[in-house]
Amino acid sequence: MENPDDQCPRPPRMPEQATTPHSPPIYLSSVYECRDPEQADALLAGLETGYVYARDGHPNADMLAEQCRLLHGAEQAAITGSGMGALALVVLSQLESGDHLVLSNQLYGRTSALLTREAARLGISSTVVDAYDLNAVKGALSPNTRLLVVETISNPLLRVANLRSLADIAHERGAALVADNTLAGPAVCRPHELGADWVMESITKTMNGHSDVVLGLLCGRTDRWQRVRDTLSVWGLASAPFDCWLALRGLGTLGLRIERACANALAVAQFLTKSKAVRAVYYPGLPEHPDHELARRQFGDRNGTIVTFTLEGGLEAARSFMTASNRIPFCPSLGELTTTLSHPESTSHRGLTTQARESLGITGGTVRLSLGIESAATIIDAIGQGLDSVG
Ligand SMILES: Cc1ncc(COP(=O)(O)O)c(C=O)c1O
Repeated sequence: MENPDDQCPRPPRMPEQATTPHSPPIYLSSVYECRDPEQADALLAGLETGYVYARDGHPNADMLAEQCRLLHGAEQAAITGSGMGALALVVLSQLESGDHLVLSNQLYGRTSALLTREAARLGISSTVVDAYDLNAVKGALSPNTRLLVVETISNPLLRVANLRSLADIAHERGAALVADNTLAGPAVCRPHELGADWVMESITKTMNGHSDVVLGLLCGRTDRWQRVRDTLSVWGLASAPFDCWLALRGLGTLGLRIERACANALAVAQFLTKSKAVRAVYYPGLPEHPDHELARRQFGDRNGTIVTFTLEGGLEAARSFMTASNRIPFCPSLGELTTTLSHPESTSHRGLTTQARESLGITGGTVRLSLGIESAATIIDAIGQGLDSVG
C-alpha cells in the first residue's frame, strides 16, 4: 500500500478459505456491495436473494429468525429490536383505522398501553375483556375485530390462556389470535400448534436467557408476510447484528435451561405452599392453580419458570423478604440465567390503580420469582432465609 491512509476507506476482505466457521460469524456491515445496477435492482425488488441494507435484513437476524421459526414450527419468523417492536409490527402491518381489537385484561403494561392508548391514536379501537371467561370473549368480538390478543401465561399471576378455544372463537368471527408467548417460550408452548395466527415473544427474556440483549420475535403465516417484511423496514423496527448473534448463542441452551428452571420453579412453588408467612402461591404446576388441568393439556409437564406468591404481611413483609433473601437480586425483568425476583406493585403493575391491582390479586405483599438454573437447594435456602425474616 503506497499511502497508509488508503487502508482506512476500504479494509481487507476475509481470505478465501476451504473450511467454514463452526460458530456463526457476526455480520456487522450496514450495507452490502452490489455487482452492478441490475443486481441492485433485482435484490431490492426481491427477485434475487441477498442483502443490500441492514435495516431491510441481515444474516444474523435471518439466522436467529430461522432458529426461532423451527422452534415454534412457524411458517415465517422475523426479529425486531425489542418485544414491543414485535407487537408494533403486528399492529402496523395488519391493522387499519376503523379496526377493533379485543385484549386480555392480563397483559404486560406496555402492551396494554400500545394496544389501547397508542392504537387509538391510529383510529383503532379496543375492548378489554377477561380472557379466561370464553363467553365474555365471544361477547366482546364485533364484525370489525381483527385481532384477539392474549398472553399464553400471564404476568404475574400466571393464568393460562385456553389458546385452542380462543383461536376457534376468533376464527369464527373472522379475527386472528395473537399469543404473547414470552412467559412460556417454545420449550413450554408452541401456540401455532394450538391455532394461534401470530406468536410474539420478548427474546430479551428466557429465549436469550443471559440478560444482555433487548430483542423481539414475531412468527406468522406466509400469506400475511409480505406486509410484515415491508413494515419492519419502513417503520425502522430492525434488530442489531451483534444482539442477534448473542441471542442465537443463548438459544443453543434453551432446552436445557428451561428444563432445569421449570423443575426449580415446581420445587420452589411446592416449598412456598408450606410456609405460614405465605397467603397464596401462583404456579400452573400446582394442582390448586385454577388452570392446572389446562396447563397440563397445553404444556405437558413443563409449567414455566415463573412463580408468584403473596405474603401475609403485605408490603412490609415483602420488603423484609427481599432484604433477607438478598442472594436473589431484585431485577424488574425475567428470564435471567440465575434466579431473580420482582415486585409487581412497584414495577410492572405500577400504572394500575390500587383497586385494579387488587381485583387482579396483586398487593404490596406480592413477589414474583423468575427461576434460574442454580440448584434447587441453593434457591430454596435463599427463599427460606427471606421467609424466616418475615416470621
Ligand atoms: C409479557 C411481555 N410481553 C412483552 C414484553 C416487551 O418486551 P421487550 O421488553 O423486549 O420490549 C415484555 C417485557 O417485559 C413482557 O413481559
